[in-house]
Amino acid sequence: MNEQQHEYAIVTRGLHREFKIRLKAEGLVASLRNFFAPASKTVNAVNNLELAIRPGDIIGFLGPNGAGKTTTLKMLSGLLVPTSGTIEVLGHTPFNRDHAFLKSISLVMGQKQNLWWDLPPVETFAIHRRIYGLSDSDYESRIQELVDMLEIADCLETQTRKLSLGQRMRCELAVSLLHQPQILFLDEPTIGLDILMQKKIRNFLLDYHRRFKPTILLTSHYMDDVAALAQRVIVIDHGNKVFDGHLSDLTQKLHPEKIMSVLLNNGKFECRLEDGCHLIHQDGQHYRFLVDRSRVPEMAAKLYATGNIADLTIEDPPLEDLIGQLFTSDRRNP
Ligand SMILES: Nc1ncnc2c1ncn2[C@@H]1O[C@H](COP(=O)(O)OP(=O)(O)OP(=O)(O)O)[C@@H](O)[C@H]1O
Ligand SMILES: [Mg+2]
Repeated sequence: MNEQQHEYAIVTRGLHREFKIRLKAEGLVASLRNFFAPASKTVNAVNNLELAIRPGDIIGFLGPNGAGKTTTLKMLSGLLVPTSGTIEVLGHTPFNRDHAFLKSISLVMGQKQNLWWDLPPVETFAIHRRIYGLSDSDYESRIQELVDMLEIADCLETQTRKLSLGQRMRCELAVSLLHQPQILFLDEPTIGLDILMQKKIRNFLLDYHRRFKPTILLTSHYMDDVAALAQRVIVIDHGNKVFDGHLSDLTQKLHPEKIMSVLLNNGKFECRLEDGCHLIHQDGQHYRFLVDRSRVPEMAAKLYATGNIADLTIEDPPLEDLIGQLFTSDRRNP
């Protein structure tokens, strides 16, 4: 699959992309003035972004709405030209869009589709087979494998417009993977899907990655996707990188506590609360505490020593809350 091994699958240096936006003017006089001398402002969608991603890694690319994620993915896949800075994807400059580059990547956008709306997926597959020049045997075996893994045998002959969102998304993934790209850019692949379908797609991606080891750059607003798939996360805000590292480091950095849930066999909680342990919720014999990470083992031992524990679980706060914390207004405007 890989003609040449690169230390990094993706490298960007000083990547920058701005957009000029025309401002609307209110009122007749202002509208007229605006017509002759349009007022505009410049948005820095991506700002001095440095990325270095190794082949085979799965990276969660996170950030609030408008952070610059889609703009970055479009530049990495050659759909947008950077305002300044450099990009190397498997040694190619994406916006040259040379054939070897296009054969080694795929961009899947949850909000847009590659499938032809009026054709059944099987016909779009056939078109892609021609575009990518796949041999009969490669095509047959890849289709078979993807159809099995994605469980889409029933959808292949149905006009795409008549498929459900979940069916369409799975066919969308199949068509994007037909040529076995080494790099997969996934922009919100599970958007709008119900929880079961999100899980199905996540499991498929994990399985696919285990088998073929593509490099995956994934954006999602569903933190379950990120927690299940990504070893490393890159967080951007207003086009700037604000975090790059392991998900667990991000969790620890943002929230030095864990949540401990305790269910008592009977009676009330008798243990004395110590420093670094706070009761945050109580409902009957169910208690929830916020405990400093360093004190979790000691607290758990103390609780068990009471001999009154029916159940005890220790977990991280929900990732959604943590990421939300990164983008609070005081952080943005210190
Ligand atoms: N074609 C365009 N013309 C003008 N401005 C644009 C264009 N595309 C993106 N922008 C602006 O660039 C910024 C980054 O947008 P982008 O779509 O990359 O964000 P995002 O992180 O993908 O957000 P979301 O999570 O909502 O998908 C936003 O301020 C957006 O309004
Ligand atoms: Mg986006």
